[in-house]
Amino acid sequence: MGCRRRKICVGIVMSEFVPVAMRDEVPPGARKLIDFDAVSVVLFNIGGDFYCIEDVCTHDGGPVGEGDIEGCSIECPRHGARFDLRDGSVLSMPAVVPIPTYQVKLDGNQVFIESPDDW
Ligand code: FES
Repeated sequence: MGCRRRKICVGIVMSEFVPVAMRDEVPPGARKLIDFDAVSVVLFNIGGDFYCIEDVCTHDGGPVGEGDIEGCSIECPRHGARFDLRDGSVLSMPAVVPIPTYQVKLDGNQVFIESPDDW
């Protein structure tokens, strides 16, 4: 089997994108946990738009990806910090540092994310 990775030019920086799911595998309202060598990330489908965040709360290291979704935000199940899924920004305490986010690209039915292993 050939290489499954593809490079997409973003400005003058080459970011590597990796396939993580088929679009219909993550329908609106669903999420998918993806483990990489260095980190775990969570892919969300919010009303047909895909977002991807690191699965570690910046407050105390909890698995934020399991939290409740409201609109485009997620609430950490451990202490209730809320983050914007679109850019990882903090919406409520006790967290004060944004969560890393990863660009998502769609190609047909395939969903790609910016490779966390390249960071
Ligand atoms: S670990 Fe997420 S709010 Fe504390």
